[in-house]
Amino acid sequence: MTGRSSFLIVANRLPVDRTIEPDGTASWRRSPGGLVTAIAPVMQRRHGAWAGWHGAPDEKLEPFEQGGMNLIPVPLSAREVELYYEGFSNATLWPLYHDVVAPPVFEREMWEAYREVNERFANAAAEAAEEGAVVWVQDYQLQLVPAMLRRIRPDLRIGFFLHIPFPPVELFWRLPWRKDLVEGLLGADLVGFQLPGGASNFRRLCRRLLGLPYKGNEIFLDDRVVRTQAFPISVDFGQLDALVRDPNIVARAKEIRMELGDPEHVLLGVDRLDYTKGIGQRLEAFGELLKDHRLEAGEAVFVQIATPSRERVDEYRRLRDDIELQVGRINGEHAQLGYQPVWYFHQSYDHEELAALYLAADVMVVTPLRDGMNLVAKEYISCHHDLHGALVLSEFAGAADELRQAYLVNPYDVEDVKRQMVAAMRATPHELARRMRTMRRRVATYDVDRWASEFLTALESPASEPSMRRSASWRSG
Ligand code: ADP
Ligand code: G6P
Repeated sequence: MTGRSSFLIVANRLPVDRTIEPDGTASWRRSPGGLVTAIAPVMQRRHGAWAGWHGAPDEKLEPFEQGGMNLIPVPLSAREVELYYEGFSNATLWPLYHDVVAPPVFEREMWEAYREVNERFANAAAEAAEEGAVVWVQDYQLQLVPAMLRRIRPDLRIGFFLHIPFPPVELFWRLPWRKDLVEGLLGADLVGFQLPGGASNFRRLCRRLLGLPYKGNEIFLDDRVVRTQAFPISVDFGQLDALVRDPNIVARAKEIRMELGDPEHVLLGVDRLDYTKGIGQRLEAFGELLKDHRLEAGEAVFVQIATPSRERVDEYRRLRDDIELQVGRINGEHAQLGYQPVWYFHQSYDHEELAALYLAADVMVVTPLRDGMNLVAKEYISCHHDLHGALVLSEFAGAADELRQAYLVNPYDVEDVKRQMVAAMRATPHELARRMRTMRRRVATYDVDRWASEFLTALESPASEPSMRRSASWRSG
């Protein structure tokens, strides 16, 4: 790859992840998580470059091309992986921004590493961007990059999108480095959030922490205006819709049902193995339905796919043990010869196998305790042109704002989850089709291309003049 780019993505991860085996051999796989799922198809359709970490420590790689994308690897040392990635990003910010469902760790060493690594990403972006380029920085791992980048390259148009929830002021306030993070984000011209609530939390925080006035979506700095707005992220509806019409996928979906013992109801969960996803809550609900005999043995199976994630972070280790114990208990108590109630897979799958699983499932169970959006819910909807299938969805997932026809649940209320799981299993085909049709219309219209183009259009359109500051209210929004 040569030259600089006029459009650049900067994210902690590249779309591909490099694994080094104990014998030293290296292989590439798709990176886990919703960020890569959303950004990769957008990038494949636009010309540009993507700067990010390639997933292995202590390794410097040259820029390379893959899947029609120019990739610029940003190196991390093993210590930085521990302090910046596993530490400040995933043991401090991740739990803090997800309603403190696990206690956040506050350590100065982790913060220092976060600052240093953010500086490295800002420098990499500054080098790769041509004069006046659009640079789109992604997610909580890189919140200092916008301001750092603006300092080096004031000519750039800088956007930032947060894929996870932005917490209420009362929670964010705990962060010892709260001012640095907010000032980091304010280096962008446009700061995007999943939901309007996140954007308004951020504006209120800017007023309370930095005394900055705002009006509508705009925050007024001395010399610039920063726009804040919600852009609910989505999936590549067209690609998934086409994939599940492939006869091979249809045949594979049938085969999966047979391999599960051809039960009346197949329930499915697909998540990174993360404590925000409410995997334990949904398994508890399913186990109780068997115990209460509201489900008879052989009637329903629960397939839980749990992608390995952040495996060296303590909370994730504990979670894996807890879930595996719980699966063992339910199967131990309710299995019969020829019937296994829960099928648990701690593995990653390719697009085709996931699509076949979605197609095979009668009920998709998505019960996060807090989630920025949850693309799995939208993927499931995209895969059901047959209008069969029900979505049980947590009220605490961003997707619940759009998918109102799902069977909405409070995941903290196990009786509610049980009730809605049963309602989804007992619904008539007519009722399922009615709900699915409306949800499909929504996801088909607001797909990932629309998300990206709405963000980029807003980023390139001019904001108000800073002189409007005087008329900005201190209380509005
Ligand atoms: P998060 O970004 O927190 O992981 P999302 O639901 O928004 O949650 O996105 C998860 C993405 O990861 C989806 O695109 C989903 O298809 C993918 N995914 C989840 N589990 C697996 C798996 N076992 N194998 C392959 N892809 C997976
Ligand atoms: C979520 C985050 C992403 C992250 C992904 C996978 O989607 O918002 O930023 O990349 O999870 O997590 P990981 O730690 O493996 O990158």
